[in-house]
Amino acid sequence: METAFAQMLPPVASDVAGNWDTLFLFLVGVSVVFFVIVVGSMLWFLIKYREKEPGQKVGNIVHNDKLEFLWITIPTILVMIIFAWGWIVYKRMVDAPESAYDIKVIGKQWLWQFQYDNGKTTIGELIVPEKIPVRLIMTSDDVIHSFFLPDFRIKNDVVPGMYTKVWFQANEQGEHTIFCAEYCGNAHSKMMGTVKVVSLSEWETFQKGKGAPKERPASLVEWGQQLYTDKGCFACHSVDGVKGIGPSFKGIWGKQEEMSDGSHILVDENYVRESIEYPGTTKDKLVKGFPPVMPTFKGLIAEEELNALIAFIKNLKE
Ligand code: CUA
Repeated sequence: METAFAQMLPPVASDVAGNWDTLFLFLVGVSVVFFVIVVGSMLWFLIKYREKEPGQKVGNIVHNDKLEFLWITIPTILVMIIFAWGWIVYKRMVDAPESAYDIKVIGKQWLWQFQYDNGKTTIGELIVPEKIPVRLIMTSDDVIHSFFLPDFRIKNDVVPGMYTKVWFQANEQGEHTIFCAEYCGNAHSKMMGTVKVVSLSEWETFQKGKGAPKERPASLVEWGQQLYTDKGCFACHSVDGVKGIGPSFKGIWGKQEEMSDGSHILVDENYVRESIEYPGTTKDKLVKGFPPVMPTFKGLIAEEELNALIAFIKNLKE
């Protein structure tokens, strides 16, 4: 039964996930047993003590010592077991080992940004080593988000003005999806990311500053398309002309865009670059009909990456 049950849950990808699942299985088991006892006896009483003839008198039963003793002690013991067991698993989830590697997480509308000790920053992709405890120190740039990694069974709110933490130890190499589990605005459902668990040697290469271990497409346009997904642009900007939180990228290249103050700006290399690094907050730089909500990507996108994104946008003809 345990395996059938396990198949219904997300993969067990962290150290604590197995402990969590066993406790959850126990809770479900206890609930099923009590459901059968309560609903079963209810149905049985319904039939056994039904009115057999009109005006039938019923006896007056006051109490039953043996039954009352059982229904007080058994649930009390069960609840204490659940408390102690839950406490043990909770402590494991909360207390990170001293040796844990710290990664800073910043949530913002609507992307996840990760900062490492080597000064690197990644967006939408968290690189972690396998079999080493990692602690995430998280904060928000704007509103409350929630960092949720179902495969690792960890979740915590990400709150502006304070730091919250989670930690985990990934079992093996692979990729897992990060969700935002707190409604944080229009593109909340698209505020996703990936955890990439890499081998120790890949981790060391990454630490030494040789870049994220990711295949780079040969063409600039394809690379730009990959960045469009990885950097989270897709959350606000469509590529099919549908109006999102920001303007669609389709066919904007070479257009005279109307700004909030009624002026026009030519969408060219410089405008795209400026909009990525210093998103419009003044009316003469903000496209008409859109709110000034884009976070700055200054320092988060390398020059070559900017070129790739520009090539990608340029390629999206009307
Ligand atoms: Cu961030 Cu929902």
